[in-house]
Amino acid sequence: MKICVDRCVCFDRSFVDLLSIARRTGAASLEALQEETEFGLACRICNPYVRRMLRTGQTTFDALLSHVDEPPPGPPAKTG
Ligand code: FES
Repeated sequence: MKICVDRCVCFDRSFVDLLSIARRTGAASLEALQEETEFGLACRICNPYVRRMLRTGQTTFDALLSHVDEPPPGPPAKTG
């Protein structure tokens, strides 16, 4: 099954639009972008995609991403 993830489904906001807003406003993190426009605050499945979008400029994804793939900023999780 082929997948294509290109938006925050809960708020119907395309990553193309979100990237445009990020570039216009200088928002460099998911949290900073959420201060500019509403998205990503319901199921939060889109959050790792938006983090990768902000890091790479990619706006369509054909692989599933999780918070493990694109973790929020902060100290690394403790192991063991
Ligand atoms: S897909 Fe973005 S909050 Fe649900």
